[in-house]
Amino acid sequence: MTSHFWHGFADMHVVANNEIVFTSGDGILLTDTTGRQVLDATAALWYCNVGYGRREIANAVADQLTRLAAYSSFGAYTTDRSVELAERLAGLSPLGPETVVFLGSGGSDAIDTAAKLARRYWDVIGRPEKRVIVSREHAYHGMHAWGTSLVGIPGMKAGYGGPFIDEVAMVGAMDLDGLAALFEARAGEIAAFIGEPVIGAGGVIPPTDAYWPAVTALCHRYDVLLIADEVITGFGRTGELWASTRYRIEPDMITFAKGVSSGYVPLGGVLVGERVRRPFWDDPVPGAVLRHGYTYSGHAGAAAAALANLDIIESEGLVARVKAMEPFVASAFGRLAGQPLVGDIRTVGLTAAVAVDAEALAVDPALPERLVAAAYQHGVATRVLRGHALQFSPAFVITETQIDTIVSAFAASFDELAAGR
Ligand SMILES: Cc1ncc(COP(=O)(O)O)c(C=O)c1O
Repeated sequence: MTSHFWHGFADMHVVANNEIVFTSGDGILLTDTTGRQVLDATAALWYCNVGYGRREIANAVADQLTRLAAYSSFGAYTTDRSVELAERLAGLSPLGPETVVFLGSGGSDAIDTAAKLARRYWDVIGRPEKRVIVSREHAYHGMHAWGTSLVGIPGMKAGYGGPFIDEVAMVGAMDLDGLAALFEARAGEIAAFIGEPVIGAGGVIPPTDAYWPAVTALCHRYDVLLIADEVITGFGRTGELWASTRYRIEPDMITFAKGVSSGYVPLGGVLVGERVRRPFWDDPVPGAVLRHGYTYSGHAGAAAAALANLDIIESEGLVARVKAMEPFVASAFGRLAGQPLVGDIRTVGLTAAVAVDAEALAVDPALPERLVAAAYQHGVATRVLRGHALQFSPAFVITETQIDTIVSAFAASFDELAAGR
């Protein structure tokens, strides 16, 4: 039967009759409607970091929903759970104890909030001409209009007749000279630079050691706000709670989502540091109001999910577990090097991308999708990154044996396709 559900990033001519429908999950295992069990190599879309089936989170949400599911957080109103989550996140923030937290329903909301806040900040301090947001080649910042304008993966902004927001600029993924030249020429109009500490959807591209300290220095020198998009990296994915700490980034704002609630209830937000907070909270700047907010900003059920999720991350030491596993991930995926059809292999924390050999990909751009289908037959759910690589970003509870099983399934899939060509 043809489905009525419109999938994201999908050709519905193909997918409508070929859905893969999951019915349950447990740890990193998923079961589909045919009864097949597969290992989830990607924690869904990089988010289910504590694994599926966590009764503690479900109970916390059920308690909250029956007490007070949600209330407006506009004006003076909010709920006790929303305030508690903001306190907890401020306590974990690398931006310091003055951090304040703006909540929404996911990463794209967070990006819109941070971008609007950057422009609003310059406006209230009397520099409204600083409006441009700078992003990077290969970047992914969600799919709201702002994210679509900032995206560094060309296919994702094609076909809309142009950018939605004109005041954007783009530099090479690790191009410090290009960034310095752009700032030198246009800093007077630039509100902020935004970047993922490790480029995620663009293909798991870790920074060079020098990159983020140099970006931080350039932002200071040219008076440009720095936004670290930690929607994927936040809450432990790289082996530290925040990748900003690992890579010595000094952001003014951090966007987060995904791992904050492990996706049990949709949630995202922005950590806002002292500089941006000040004119809105502390200094008496006439008219310094942020006229922005979402119906579900500070949703109490989502906040309860996040608090229970953070409890699990802390009590089970999951961030330290990721750090300890990093060398194992690198060596396990290293086994694929040199195999037919395998190109670049990039790993960081509990994350990897296995690229398809560039020449083979040029001949057959459908290879990555066929590898994903083959991996599913070998018992592993994965997906394609930027049209060229397979994704690995499992739940933090994965075992070394399960990592080996996933690598073997990838190996068998590459073998099969290499043999069939
Ligand atoms: C770095 C980054 N920013 C923003 C987003 C958008 O998040 P969402 O899909 O929750 O809107 C994503 C989603 O993958 C992301 O990876």
